[in-house]
Amino acid sequence: MSEIKFFCGENIPLEMHKVRIVQKLNLVSVERRLEAITEAGNNTFLLKNRDIFMDMLTDSGVNAMSDKQLAAMMEADDSYAGSETFSKLESKSQEIFGKQFFLPAHQGRACENILSQLFVKPGYVVPMNYHFTTTKSHIVLNGGIVEEILIDEGLKVSSCHPFKGNIDIEKLKAVIKKYGPEKVAFFRFEAGTNLIGGQPFSLENMAEVRKICEEYGILVVLDASLLADNLYFIKTREEKCKNMSIREITRAMSDLSDIIYFSARKLGCARGGGICTDSKELYLKIRELVPLYEGFLTYGGMSVREMEAIAVGLEETMDEDMINQGPQFIAYMTDELQKKGVPVITPAGGLGCHLDAMRFADHIPQSQYPAGALATAVFIAGGVRGMERGTLSEQRDENGNETFSNMELLRLAMPRRVFTLSQVKYAVDRIVWLYENRKLIEGLKFVEEPKILRFFFGRLATVSDWQTKLAARFREDFGDSL
Ligand code: F0G
Repeated sequence: MSEIKFFCGENIPLEMHKVRIVQKLNLVSVERRLEAITEAGNNTFLLKNRDIFMDMLTDSGVNAMSDKQLAAMMEADDSYAGSETFSKLESKSQEIFGKQFFLPAHQGRACENILSQLFVKPGYVVPMNYHFTTTKSHIVLNGGIVEEILIDEGLKVSSCHPFKGNIDIEKLKAVIKKYGPEKVAFFRFEAGTNLIGGQPFSLENMAEVRKICEEYGILVVLDASLLADNLYFIKTREEKCKNMSIREITRAMSDLSDIIYFSARKLGCARGGGICTDSKELYLKIRELVPLYEGFLTYGGMSVREMEAIAVGLEETMDEDMINQGPQFIAYMTDELQKKGVPVITPAGGLGCHLDAMRFADHIPQSQYPAGALATAVFIAGGVRGMERGTLSEQRDENGNETFSNMELLRLAMPRRVFTLSQVKYAVDRIVWLYENRKLIEGLKFVEEPKILRFFFGRLATVSDWQTKLAARFREDFGDSL
């Protein structure tokens, strides 16, 4: 993996691509930012892009695409059935994962819907390193139970453990014993564990898990949506893998899985999804549901242009210079914030830089959504849009009580190859300013609370006029600056 040293000693990531198409950004005044977040019900999902400067909400479907991807999109074959484009994507998936069957789906959660409908029954359990919001909702909707059995270190915000997404093998054995192997719908490994800060698992841990699952006849399902980051971390942090190519690591992970599914909004930098398996029996089961929910087997709800882009995107994921950009920019941002004392998740993971709202705003009780409040404050401070990943993103329990999240995070996603280093420096600057003024931040309360996935559409109000005071402080400190 190229590591470019600078003569003057500065340690900064160097982009291994050049920008050929640009989109103009708007940086509106702090007064407008305050208005905009109020109009959005203090929910960053409800902001309009015209009011946003740096959109760090997600990396889903918004990574920069390559010239080769765009070129491939021009020659897509739009046949409803038997499309040549599908064959290309299928062969690329076969080549990279070494699995015979590829089933298309319109995005990651569509794969989760199909797999949950097929394998999860009331009272069944799905052990996993950590849940993702949509995954858990589908499992629960089918009457299943999610058991998170990652190592204890995974939930420690500050750590130097290289693989915080690893499974605790003893916890896995205990779950199998508690429910009985016949009640385990499948085991799910999430690459680049999203909700704990984009943290990876090791190949060694995966092999240990596989061995136990095999012993009990339990299917191993790999959610490969954030595979690119996980591959980078295995390559750079796992001693035994440092001489393996990205392609070899991918193949080794695939060989340890019975089913792989992914959101191609992340993996492959386009928009779509897919399920891969080498088992004819599993393929035939999954095949029944694809036309019902997604579309015919040679498009599965995706546009043929996107399928062309995914095929190229999967190939580009095998390029170390391509997949190192995200983790290196994220590490840069995390280090710069840490140097200034801002509490962040460590070690830096994939996906994005994660602020620890529990420490950033330790005066706000969890019942007032500290990470949600911090998301609104970061937007007011810099027009930077992040995503709450804490209690707001949880669901209430069956009695209507809040389920307090293990972590209260503000995720600042780093869409790959989208922002320049000076933009990242700007975001750091505004966050450092906010940290100095953190006592001005106060909590939020729901005014409209949907039952399912409430963080998408819920609307909240501030518990006082703290945001007005924060905007006024910004004006005092920054004068005429935007
Ligand atoms: N699995 C993981 C690990 C994800 O991060 C996501 C999406 C999905 C499944 C669902 O895929 O969006 O294509 O339906 N994560 C996005 C995010 C939404 O912003 O982190 P999807």
